[in-house]
Amino acid sequence: MAPIPTFAPASHQAHALTTLFIGVLIVLCAIFLLVTGLVSFMIVRYRDRPGAPEARQIFGWTTLEVVWTLIPLGILAVLSVFMMLADHVADPPIPEGRKPDLRVIAHQWWWEINYLASGVVAANEIHIPIGKPILIELHPFIFLAPAFGFLVLIVVPFFNRGERHPARRPWAVAAVITIVMMILSLWIEAKRAPWSPDFSAKLLPASVIASTQPEVTRGAALFHAKGCEFCHEVEGFGGHRGPNLSDVGDRLTHADIVIRILNGGNNMPAFARAR
Ligand code: HEC
Repeated sequence: MAPIPTFAPASHQAHALTTLFIGVLIVLCAIFLLVTGLVSFMIVRYRDRPGAPEARQIFGWTTLEVVWTLIPLGILAVLSVFMMLADHVADPPIPEGRKPDLRVIAHQWWWEINYLASGVVAANEIHIPIGKPILIELHPFIFLAPAFGFLVLIVVPFFNRGERHPARRPWAVAAVITIVMMILSLWIEAKRAPWSPDFSAKLLPASVIASTQPEVTRGAALFHAKGCEFCHEVEGFGGHRGPNLSDVGDRLTHADIVIRILNGGNNMPAFARAR
């Protein structure tokens, strides 16, 4: 079984977070066991028995109140020290004068990526060298509509007089139907979007391979194993991130296809060094 990635950190930043997570988990388990244990004990010890007196309640015992407020506060204080230590490792301070390499701006539905050294601006995908720390400046996108919608929901109950019957409020009904139709049509459109890969694509069926020659079946297996099929359709099977390859043999020469596979291209990875 593959290790759960949360418990198998690779970088020392992730390692700090995992250690913190496990520590907090142990503390929380201890609290859980203590509370369930005490509750079970109380349920059994002070259950109602024939002839038992009415249970006595404790009011205004200041010491008790103070103690059970201070204990959680103490636990939280200790945890927050560990949290700050982990945070220092996971998100170290930026060295004085270090300029960011990338500026990433979140827009509604897409990311704008500015490569500051070259001035190139791209969308959604970042290409960065491996083995070299980079500094990314992130500009979040603050979308006020959800906050506004939430406010409206809170305010609605204060304006609850007026006509309720749907037949008497055609605009409200029309608005709801329009919104539902919009979401549905965008959904269908997104499902059909030409650029979507399909990571669940299965090996091409024998009817499509239509050959028992070992080279051809091996090719089909490679086409699946290397992930080509996630992005390319052949006779109705596979994803739609790249062009349909059903008749690529009529479109491109052998050499063209080899060059394309080795070098990749717009949104296609290069396989020259892939094993
Ligand atoms: C991440 C998705 C992706 C993967 C994986 C992928 N491709 Fe592509 N492929 C593309 C895209 C996108 C294009 C079109 C690029 C362009 O516009 O020039 C393309 C183009 C091609 C073309 C040229 C098609 C034409 O009509 O011009 C061939 C051939 C091809 N890919 C074969 C392969 C093979 C073989 C593999 C597996 C070894 C593979 N691709 C893996 C996305 C992918």
